[in-house]
Amino acid sequence: MKDDSRVAEEVTGENADQPGIEIYRQLSRFLLVYKFAVEELMTKLRILSEEFDFVHRHDPIEHIASRVKRPEAILDKLRRKGLPARLEVIAEQLDDVAGVRVICPFVSDVYRVAEMLSGQHDVELLLSKDYIAEPKPNGYRSLHLILRIPVFLSDRVEHVKVEVQLRTIAMDFWATLEHKLFYKYDDQVPADFAAELAGTAAIAAQLDSRMQALHQRLH
Ligand code: GTP
Ligand code: MG
Repeated sequence: MKDDSRVAEEVTGENADQPGIEIYRQLSRFLLVYKFAVEELMTKLRILSEEFDFVHRHDPIEHIASRVKRPEAILDKLRRKGLPARLEVIAEQLDDVAGVRVICPFVSDVYRVAEMLSGQHDVELLLSKDYIAEPKPNGYRSLHLILRIPVFLSDRVEHVKVEVQLRTIAMDFWATLEHKLFYKYDDQVPADFAAELAGTAAIAAQLDSRMQALHQRLH
């Protein structure tokens, strides 16, 4: 079995721009633990959802989606960031190799689920970015957590990072359509489009707060 640190040699060899079969082979094995981490986190979230619903007669999770970044996308991102294609660099520098998206009915659920999850003893909270309290300039809102959880393998424990994005249905509606409309622009969205986009984000935020108010009156 090859040492992980030799991946760089594979990529920076004769064909620096054309990563060989070898790095893809090593990456797919390396990515297995990220798949396990995602599965663990999904189980934790399903338990929180069902048990909270049972106790409080309100399910704080509408639905959950997940993905592990494809090898091509990982190598692209390393290239964009000017980082060498080595497994330990991926583990240390990329926070979103494993991603879980949690869609909640109400804003209060977003924070409640984030607290319940990051408060668990085997979950480390590495970073929290609250784009709900402080939306991005384009209007994007979501709560992002970088968590680290242990994955128990046959001969060792690995501590694996997972990016968790929590948002309401309205935030998800906006983010999904914004991505569809503007992903190809990078950061170059025309000014009049940007203003209109920020306007639609404000409507989504208002929808969230009015729905939240109704929810509070009923609970
Ligand atoms: P990346 O290098 O893109 O991962 O950004 P980052 O490391 O600065 O993290 P950030 O928290 O800004 O964004 C992480 C992820 O959140 C992105 O990969 C997207 O999935 C999502 N995201 C962030 N900003 C936007 C946005 O403006 N629109 C949409 N649709 N999604 C966004
Ligand atoms: Mg990121």
